[in-house]
This record gives sequence, structure tokens and C-alpha cells, in this order.
Amino acid sequence: MSVLSGKNVLLGVTAGIAAYKSTFLVRLLVKKGADVRVVMTPSAKEFVTPLTLSTLSKNEVYSSFTNEEDDNAQWNNHVELGIWADLFIIAPATANTLSKMSQGTSDNLLVATYLSAKCPVYIAPAMDLDMYKHPSTHETFEKLESFGNILIPAAHGELASGLVGQGRMAEPEDIIDFIEKDISEKLPLKGKKILITAGPTYEAIDPVRFIGNHSSGKMGYAIAETAAQLGAKVTLISGPVSIRTENSLIHLVKVTTAQQMYDAVLQGFESCHIAILSAAVADYRPTDVASQKIKKKEGSLTIQLEKTEDILASLGTRKDRQFLVGFALETENELENAKTKLKKKNLDLIVLNSLNDTGAGFGTDTNKVTFVTRNNKVIPFEVKSKKEVANDILQHIINQLDA
Ligand code: CTP
Repeated sequence: MSVLSGKNVLLGVTAGIAAYKSTFLVRLLVKKGADVRVVMTPSAKEFVTPLTLSTLSKNEVYSSFTNEEDDNAQWNNHVELGIWADLFIIAPATANTLSKMSQGTSDNLLVATYLSAKCPVYIAPAMDLDMYKHPSTHETFEKLESFGNILIPAAHGELASGLVGQGRMAEPEDIIDFIEKDISEKLPLKGKKILITAGPTYEAIDPVRFIGNHSSGKMGYAIAETAAQLGAKVTLISGPVSIRTENSLIHLVKVTTAQQMYDAVLQGFESCHIAILSAAVADYRPTDVASQKIKKKEGSLTIQLEKTEDILASLGTRKDRQFLVGFALETENELENAKTKLKKKNLDLIVLNSLNDTGAGFGTDTNKVTFVTRNNKVIPFEVKSKKEVANDILQHIINQLDA
């Protein structure tokens, strides 16, 4: 999956011959799963039509502060557009627009939006070779880079003038490659190895029966997906669940029993930076597993159980630099129990969910959690989707690692 998937991408198109390539850029961005909106300078409309760009982006195209041809003229809010964007690509960027951007001359919607945007800005210049080489252009590039804008260098080749040299806008495929690499390298969990457990464990009684629980694995899978999107190298150790992950960035290890989960976790723990144990591991398993199906008899049946290994507690005794996160599912004395578990298992964070809260717990798509941190700080959250909870957990860890 591309790092551009699900992103709000604002494409700024300025008045250069390369503007025709912006149509390909829109197509590629849409294919990558981005939501694309286009803002053009008024003169860019002479090079490529708003109709083409709005059809390809499936969104309205903006080129002036108001829709002047519309009787109910509507204000095109550059601030809103700037806030909406997760990233802003200006391609092609002419010498004129670049100069205005460096000076803050906001005499069109594109430059006003640029000045309002808080997101990363990528600039793909396009101009004739002598313009590209001019000291004033270089000064502009340097100034824009000093603002934190990211320059995608122009390519070498035949130019609209017929001359050959550097100044051609980078090809749309190369622009996308450049941006994907740049985003990936800057992801907050880049280079971090994360171990995640999810789902229930099944402890066999006989060849057809087992002791299990209602865990769906949704919380752990959401954490794994989000961690991968944030750049982490994820190993997901999952008990038997019906959900799946298609994410090729997640290394999935399927296990059935608590013992298998313990073995798999221990194997990956030493080299990991972060371990998040969200699995609902069976605390007990049958002491003896019958080799044949247990037949029904008169009277009651007693099954002798023995303790399984507490995976989280055992990681707590081994951890050195790892950030260790546990979950606590409680039905009474929630906070007190969570604090005790945090201490006893030597955790950096415990995520408490109470079965008493609506929207929390097994099988649901939502969760209501409270964080208890290593120094006993209690951070309650509202009911959120499991995806949002996953994000809260990972953001908390990122902040702690950066602190
Ligand atoms: N856990 C584990 N191995 C076990 C049992 C639990 O790694 N054998 C982990 C879970 O993944 C979770 C945390 O421990 O992150 C707490 O699980 P929970 O069932 O709430 O608590 P327990 O420690 O098992 O205590 P109790 O069941 O008595 O509440």
C-alpha cells in the first residue's frame, strides 16, 4: 500500500507547458488512493482545462477567490484548503509563482493557499534552461528550501523552446516516487521494530474441543496496520481470528496456543524496540489433553487446569530498552487493577478497557480506553474506533520515545 493512500493531496498547477503533465499526476495520485484537489493559477487554465482536472480528480478545481461565473458567487477559502491538505504539490511550478511564493505575494488563490498551508510542500519546477540556471531562480530555490519546502529537481532534456538542458518538469512517475520515498523516510516509526500480539488463544481439551475466549483480534490488527503506516517493521503474532491483513508490510505469525504465542513472542522480543501485547491469552490450559474425543458419561466432568506462561510478565523481567505495553480488561476496580498490573509486569504503559463501558471490549469496532503510564498518570479517552485508539497508543509511544 502506498504512503499516499488515504492522504489529502492538494495539487497546485501553474502556467507552463508542463501543465499538461499535471493530468497524469492527478491520475497517478488517485490510483495511489489519494483524495486529490487541484488549485490553479488563472493563467494555468490556458494550458490545461479545469474540466479535465476536475474530471480526473473527481473534485472541484479552484482557481480564483470566488466562483466568478456563478451567480451565487462563493468564497473559495484558501485557509480551509491549506488545512485540508496533508501535502501540497506544486507541479509545474513556474519561475513567476516560485518568486511570488518566496516573497509572499498572494495575488492569486494558489499562492494564498501556499501561505496558509501547514503541511509539507513539494515543488516541481519547470522552466527553460537559462531561467533555471539564473542566479535569481537559485536564490528563490534556496529561500523556499529554507522555509522547509522540498524541491524536486527539474530533469534534463528537450525543452518547449527546442533547446536542450535542465528545466523540464520531473516526470509524474518520478515525482510520485520522490514523494513516496521522502514521506517513508520521515515516518515517525521508521527503523523501529514492533511486536504485537492479537486475538485469543485456544487450549485443547481433546481433538475437537478447546478453551478459548471472545477476542476478535480487531484491536491488535488495527495497531499492526497503523504501526506499519507509520513506518514500523511489524511482526503480528496472532491467535485464531476470522479477520485478515492484506498489508505486505506486516509479518504475520499465526499461532493457536498460549505456549506457541509465548515461543513466538520470545523469539522476536530481544531485537524489537516496542512490544504491544493486546492478545487475550488463556491463563489456564488443561493439564492433560485427551488423545481421543471425550465421550459423554453419567455425572459431571472435571477438567484439571494448569497455568500458562504469562507472556507479558515474562517480557517485563527481560526488557532492557524496549517500550512495553500491556492491556487490561477489567470488570471491577478497573484503575486499581490496571495500576497493579502495570507495576507487577514492569510495563511502560497499560491500556485499560472496562467491559462496563458501552462501545468497549470484544468484537466491537470501537473501544473506550484509559491509559495508565509508567509514572501512574491516568489519561482517559472517549469512545473511539479501534483504528483511532491504535493511533492514540502509537502517538503516545512516539512522544515518549522522542521525549
Ligand atoms: N497476558 C499475557 N499472557 C498471559 C495472560 C495475559 O501476555 N498468559 C497479557 C495480555 O495480552 C494483556 C495483559 O497480559 O496485555 C493483561 O491481561 P489480562 O487478562 O487483563 O490480565 P491477567 O494478567 O491475565 O490477569 P487477570 O486475568 O487476573 O485479570
